[in-house]
Amino acid sequence: MSTLSTSLPGGTWALGDLAVTRFGYGAMQLAGPWVMGPPADRDGALAVLREAADLGITHIDTSGAYGPHITNRLIREALHPYSDSLHIVTKVGATRDQEGGWPPARRPEDLRRAVHENLRELGLETLDVVNLRLGDAQGPQPGSLAEAFETLVELQRQGLIRHLGVSNATVEQVAEARSIAPIVCVQNMYNLAHRQDDELIDELAGQGIAYVPFFPLGGFTPLQSSALTAVASRLDATPMSVALAWLLRRSPNILLIPGTSSVAHLRENVAGAGLPLSAEDLAELDEIGR
Ligand SMILES: NC(=O)c1ccc[n+]([C@@H]2O[C@H](COP(=O)([O-])OP(=O)(O)OC[C@H]3O[C@@H](n4cnc5c(N)ncnc54)[C@H](OP(=O)(O)O)[C@@H]3O)[C@@H](O)[C@H]2O)c1
Repeated sequence: MSTLSTSLPGGTWALGDLAVTRFGYGAMQLAGPWVMGPPADRDGALAVLREAADLGITHIDTSGAYGPHITNRLIREALHPYSDSLHIVTKVGATRDQEGGWPPARRPEDLRRAVHENLRELGLETLDVVNLRLGDAQGPQPGSLAEAFETLVELQRQGLIRHLGVSNATVEQVAEARSIAPIVCVQNMYNLAHRQDDELIDELAGQGIAYVPFFPLGGFTPLQSSALTAVASRLDATPMSVALAWLLRRSPNILLIPGTSSVAHLRENVAGAGLPLSAEDLAELDEIGR
């Protein structure tokens, strides 16, 4: 098991035998508009990734579907050869169509191709963590993941993947995956206003499995709530800082991967996530998603 010390808010977490900072970075926003094509400011995108590494962030979330292929190539250009402490988590199971949609690509041959593409684009021999992305753009959808997950387990046995996770998954799919092979993380939509996974988070915490909320700041629709604004103004902080600080306090197994295409926002988010929240603040914030 690797060890890691950090001054980043939230400290560290173990994804299997990989120590990561709980404050991570989600690379999706580095692609072009609606996550299609290259960024308008390529140098700016590379600067964000280098700043993330310079700040000591050791967990970067990506996918071959971002761009497609854009964020993986930017990560490689900015950060390869990677430091031993950096862990890149990728996702397979969705592709992109001409309209920018995210059709599923979960047949065994799709998954094998996606894993090999990720290895090539990121310049790696083994992917640290691969999430099987389920459901669709509307959210998790019921159905067995067995064939797809077993394909990833086979690629893991071949040494191409170190650890597995699931994303956009129902509670039943998380349980089904765990009945097939160990997982180190679940990546689902969750934030102050979307609390559908509260029970799952607590259950996973008890099992030592990370919960990685996507859209921690609301994604394409920034979080808006009068209670959030009230707490933020009382603390002289931004709503984003409060939202991130709340997630770190919500459960020790929550890892943050807020996205940004701006170095200034990245620095703001790192500083803001360390905001102390009182019991009164937490009680008020807790009401938002209830
Ligand atoms: N598994 C899945 O299906 C799935 C789905 C979606 C996302 N993800 C992952 O989750 C990560 C996080 O989600 P996300 O990036 O879509 O959404 P997010 O982190 O909730 O929000 C990102 C948005 O917030 C803005 N923002 C960030 N910091 C800010 C600040 N300090 N001030 C003002 N605006 C700020 C960003 O704009 P600027 O660029 O202007 O800062 C961007 O528009 C993604 O990067 C991706 O890796 C996974």
